[in-house]
Amino acid sequence: MPLTIKGPLSQFGESITIFGCGAMAGAMLSRWIDCGLPPAQVTAISPSGRAAPGGVSTLTAADGMSAPDILLIGFKPQQFVRAAAAAEPLAGPNTLVVSILAGVPLGDLVRAFPRAEAVARVMPNMPVATGRGVVATHGVPEGGAGERLQKLLDTLGHVQPIADENGFEAVTALTGCGPAFLYRFAQALTGAATRLGIDPADADPLARAMLAGAAATLAESDDSPLALAEAVASPGGMTQAGLDVLDNDGRLIALMAETLRAARERGRTLAQAARDG
Ligand SMILES: NC(=O)c1ccc[n+]([C@@H]2O[C@H](COP(=O)([O-])OP(=O)(O)OC[C@H]3O[C@@H](n4cnc5c(N)ncnc54)[C@H](OP(=O)(O)O)[C@@H]3O)[C@@H](O)[C@H]2O)c1
Repeated sequence: MPLTIKGPLSQFGESITIFGCGAMAGAMLSRWIDCGLPPAQVTAISPSGRAAPGGVSTLTAADGMSAPDILLIGFKPQQFVRAAAAAEPLAGPNTLVVSILAGVPLGDLVRAFPRAEAVARVMPNMPVATGRGVVATHGVPEGGAGERLQKLLDTLGHVQPIADENGFEAVTALTGCGPAFLYRFAQALTGAATRLGIDPADADPLARAMLAGAAATLAESDDSPLALAEAVASPGGMTQAGLDVLDNDGRLIALMAETLRAARERGRTLAQAARDG
């Protein structure tokens, strides 16, 4: 007998098809299964037949399938024209299409799924797998299908509607790409610590634990990041000496602005490539 997990989604009654169940959609799915979503309600479609998490059945194509209540599309933006055409027969008049594709605007999605009840964009990040992700949303309909989608998203972490779609690519750069930027920062910190003579075997766990603790404080505190840094630094002390290096000529802000801008521009380029097919 399959194991039944009690959780906020154990009574979730909608059928879900995930068209393109790779790393990102798979992370969302594994969290939903951990929250009690019955695997039998979900079908994953991946052309290679790669196994979906949580014992969810995987098909290599959608042939002959009926329209689900929720159709989550999780392929790459560059695959949009071909893959959306292959997914379209699954989007019936009672289907809410949910896209996690970076850069593909709502208007293009509505045109690609003209028979769907509604279409929404959500932008998750990888920490959704542990329920500590960020999910930006745009176009989630009020009530009905939108409410049911909200129930799914609420299990993933912090959910934030973004009213102006023009800002969605910048939000994607911040929260979708952001975890990779933080991991790179952790790597740089560890590398720098080893240059100061700390054993790499010590530097790695020390840097990870420091970042995790500081991030938890940041998440839980009402104080601004500036105030939190000031609470660590005393005038003329060690921390202030390090902060002065980061702040010199606004170099850290300039680096972060350049980083986010590059990610956003790439999103725009990919969106154009998606449109061009
Ligand atoms: N990775 C992130 O942190 C992140 C964050 C936010 C948003 N996203 C968005 O998530 C989407 C997927 O990214 P990912 O990192 O999860 O990539 P991925 O691991 O490469 O997953 C892509 C998925 O699309 C499937 N696929 C490829 N061609 C297809 C087709 N013609 N029809 C149907 N499915 C097809 C792949 O199946 P096979 O494995 O069988 O080839 C795979 O399951 C992208 O649109 C990206 O913008 C990603």
